[in-house]
Amino acid sequence: LWESKKRSRAVVVSAKMFVDEMRSVAMKLHTKDQAKEGGRKSSSSNKPIGKLQPSVEGYLKFLVDSKIVYDTLESIVQNSANPSYAKFKNTGLERSEKLVKDLEWFKKLGHTIPEPSSPGTNYARYLEQLSETDPPGFICHFYNVYFAHSAGGRMIGKKVAGMILDDKELEFYKWDGDLKELLQHVRDDINEIANSWSREEKDHCLEQTAMSFECSGEILQLVLS
Ligand code: HEM
Repeated sequence: LWESKKRSRAVVVSAKMFVDEMRSVAMKLHTKDQAKEGGRKSSSSNKPIGKLQPSVEGYLKFLVDSKIVYDTLESIVQNSANPSYAKFKNTGLERSEKLVKDLEWFKKLGHTIPEPSSPGTNYARYLEQLSETDPPGFICHFYNVYFAHSAGGRMIGKKVAGMILDDKELEFYKWDGDLKELLQHVRDDINEIANSWSREEKDHCLEQTAMSFECSGEILQLVLS
């Protein structure tokens, strides 16, 4: 009996969960410079940020536009009538309040906080529409925004801090609690929601990954503006 129990557990563990599909589609969209698993060659339009010279001004634009995106995701999840979003309330991955603190810090140092620009405001508007019309699509963006920030976003933050902020670690890159565990809870919730999706809905969700890359990529480019 023990042997057969062990075997059936192994089957469950090795079955490909939907979040693994989401991750593998996302990893293929990275360039080889960005991540080892990347499936694209780098071009002049996506040079590694660490090899270029960022400015505090550009970085502030990036933080402000990121904040609009997190404000939007977090208010959709808090207020939506759609029950499948309720799982994503208080995941511990929320970034909006952290960014408020970081922007206050810059302001105290005498920097002017810019108005949000079109990469952030357009993406926010798009996310609002998607959340109402297309839950699998919306959840794709939700996943990519939070997970990208926990991975590549953190590396970029460290690099930029080393180059222009005297290694100051911003709140944007700090989580209350164990980040790995927080991420795993969200993975589990996404897998559970996706269990009720048809193959078509799953494919539709995966297809939004490219759009998510494009929108977040534009915001990321603000660092260099
Ligand atoms: C994961 C780098 C942009 C989505 C990663 C990883 C790296 C990375 C190193 C970790 C791979 C691993 O698990 O070993 C970068 C860099 C970027 C960038 C340098 C830009 C300069 C993006 C963008 C998105 C994105 C724009 C989507 C909006 C993801 C996702 C993961 C990931 C979903 C998987 C995280 C996980 O499994 O926990 N990235 N990335 N990345 N990235 Fe990016």
